[in-house]
Amino acid sequence: MSPIIHRLLALSEKPARVVVGLISGTSADSISVAICRIRGGGVAMPGSPGATVELICYYEHPYASSVRRLVFGAAKLDVRTIAELHVQVGELFAEACLNAIQAAKLTTEEIDLIGSHGQTLYHHSSMPGVPRATLQVGDGDQIAERTGICVVSDFRARDIAAGGEGAPLTPYSDLILYADPVGLATNRRRVILNLGGIANVTVLDPDPNHVFGFDTGPANSLLDRLAFQLSGGELTCDLDGRLARSGTVNAVLLEDLLKSDPFLKRRPPKSTGFEMYGDAFLERAAVAHGRRDHDLMATLTEFTARSIAMALEHFVADPTVGEIIVAGGGSRNPALMERIRANMSPVPVRDSEEVGVSSSAREAMAFALFANEALLGHPTSLPSVTGARTPVILGKWSFPSASPATLTITLP
Ligand SMILES: Nc1ncnc2c1ncn2[C@@H]1O[C@H](COP(=O)(O)OP(=O)(O)O)[C@@H](O)[C@H]1O
Ligand SMILES: [Mg+2]
Repeated sequence: MSPIIHRLLALSEKPARVVVGLISGTSADSISVAICRIRGGGVAMPGSPGATVELICYYEHPYASSVRRLVFGAAKLDVRTIAELHVQVGELFAEACLNAIQAAKLTTEEIDLIGSHGQTLYHHSSMPGVPRATLQVGDGDQIAERTGICVVSDFRARDIAAGGEGAPLTPYSDLILYADPVGLATNRRRVILNLGGIANVTVLDPDPNHVFGFDTGPANSLLDRLAFQLSGGELTCDLDGRLARSGTVNAVLLEDLLKSDPFLKRRPPKSTGFEMYGDAFLERAAVAHGRRDHDLMATLTEFTARSIAMALEHFVADPTVGEIIVAGGGSRNPALMERIRANMSPVPVRDSEEVGVSSSAREAMAFALFANEALLGHPTSLPSVTGARTPVILGKWSFPSASPATLTITLP
């Protein structure tokens, strides 16, 4: 038998595993690394405790601004640059992973597995006539080679192959991270709202078959781009919401944007990316507004908050929303949070940290969980979320160059 299969069998029999989750989201701000201790696997069910996760260490590895620029301009890249980026981002993810292991005072031999999302360069936007396709760069083989650890990566492609949207994927891990015994008793559902580049929601349900989730539209994607332009490239986001707070909403433009948006009207399952809410959207809004200024930032911040509130009102009516738990970098933008709270009132809006889940680490933890489930042979795509024909095991495997038992990788 291949020593790799031996190794995987032995890993799958361990009661607890140390798994590293890696992701850079659509904001392409940094590589998030979560080193987790995961006991068991699966979603808790009567008679089965499911996986439990402990965050050992969270680490953020900065992206070079040159890489961020390439990611934001992905639509215009030639095939050679994309191929090179696949390798370069893989190397950066490996470096991020090794630095995090060092920061946690662990060695690579103590890590059982890596789950890596990679960096999205393209994701379709659920529009009629547009084929479903998604592309994440950051080659898992590069990560396996450089760390000496088994890697599971490229999670979205398998869901698309099964007829799904390929997104959002985190509803499965939210079932584990945010299990909600209160909602079960009251029939009021806990909603997890993630504010990355794109905003997505998970509507929790005690039955995994009824968990519901979808992308609502933009979160930080438009605000980051406008902040960059308004500051002559100095700001990568509307830091602390200062620009939005000093502007006034252009009410006519706001109504136009809300009314004319085809994605907001579409029923879930649906997912989107910066092909829809990126440079082209911002350009159209700026032309309609007549200039790029703080009023445009206030308007786009309100548009973002309204698009989230409308999505919950239209598509999550029954059972009703009991509370909203916010995670992701957008939760650190007080102007955006204030507008989400105002639009969602009286539903309470709480930070993920308040319920014991690190807001920054949530997505990286999700990909550690996905790798753990792939090892155990558990499907992690939820047809109720992505529309896939059937639940499938997500992710592709990459193995280190030699039998892990004989590998002695030392940290740089
Ligand atoms: N202090 C802050 N003020 C405003 N926005 C912030 C702040 N901190 C983080 N953000 C926003 O959070 C984004 C990163 O969030 P993240 O959850 O990492 O998104 P993604 O998953 O898309 O990478 C940044 O691009 C920025 O827009
Ligand atoms: Mg990020």
